[in-house]
Amino acid sequence: MKALITGITGFVGKHLESFLRDKADVYGTSRSNRSKNHIFEVDLLSETKVTRLIEEIKPTHIFHLAGLSNVKDSWKQKADFIQANVIGTIHLLEAVRKVDNKIKVMTVGSSEEYGRIQGELDKVIEETALHPVSPYGISKCAVSMLVSLYHRSYGLNVVHARPFNHIGPGQRLGFVTSDFAYQIALINKGRIDDPILRIGNLKTARDFTDVRDIVEAYYNIACFGIAGEAYNVCTGQGVYIQDILEKFLSYSNKKIELVVDPSKIRVAEVPKLVGGPEKLYKLTGWKPKRKLDDTLKDIYDYWINNL
Ligand code: GDD
Repeated sequence: MKALITGITGFVGKHLESFLRDKADVYGTSRSNRSKNHIFEVDLLSETKVTRLIEEIKPTHIFHLAGLSNVKDSWKQKADFIQANVIGTIHLLEAVRKVDNKIKVMTVGSSEEYGRIQGELDKVIEETALHPVSPYGISKCAVSMLVSLYHRSYGLNVVHARPFNHIGPGQRLGFVTSDFAYQIALINKGRIDDPILRIGNLKTARDFTDVRDIVEAYYNIACFGIAGEAYNVCTGQGVYIQDILEKFLSYSNKKIELVVDPSKIRVAEVPKLVGGPEKLYKLTGWKPKRKLDDTLKDIYDYWINNL
């Protein structure tokens, strides 16, 4: 495999690169950070640059990770999200179409594509109708539609991963597990005077997978996924944010006051998003290996060591 990872310096990109190290020749793009020879400074908003890069590298597989991913921010930066996620993907798919439409491309979507679930569904599966409720969800929904369009219209060998929440050490702030662990680590290291933890909505439930399991799923999807299809990447288990918070609080040896921060409350959001992972399991045998409690502890330890 000769792999090109767009967004290689991001949270998932770094984990995917280390997973692929002994399986592939790995190259990557980054918008700004060209610190190593195999990383190219390419913004996907330039179709010309993406096309040249693909001509030069001639990858067998492309993992398209680049894009904006913070759901809450998407409410403030609607146009930026459409540009980065939708226009960026169009440029990449156009480049592949022109250079070599046999290259296997894996795009990354999101459980946010499903959005508001109709009826009493416990778990969303790939056939569940898409009703996104955030600008981010709309952008990823468009990506999944582009995948079927480019496959049906041009025969592109492109497949869509639909990950649910992925977490792990090294994820930046702005995502719930990092936000909680970071603040509790600050308090326990005595870096702030008031032991106050700012929180958002604790009543939602999400399906959490360790990023190190997610990248293994991406590898499987890129190798075996059927072109034009989408695959949920998830555990099938819903966990309330309240329970995540309680787990993190159990690591603290100080008493912590909880304060709801209005800036963390979203204009709209889905109360419960849990996925059915069976389609991917049937195709590849992929199952997440890591336990949620171990991942949460790793995240807390990461912040304790990297404040
Ligand atoms: N970020 C954040 N910070 N979320 C909080 C907080 C907080 O302090 N307190 C409560 N929440 C709640 C949010 O309101 C949301 O219901 C839930 O925790 C998860 O929030 P995020 O971690 O920001 O993730 P997300 O579900 O909005 O989106 C993530 O998962 C998607 C896949 O399901 C992102 O990683 C997306 O990029 C990804 O596609």
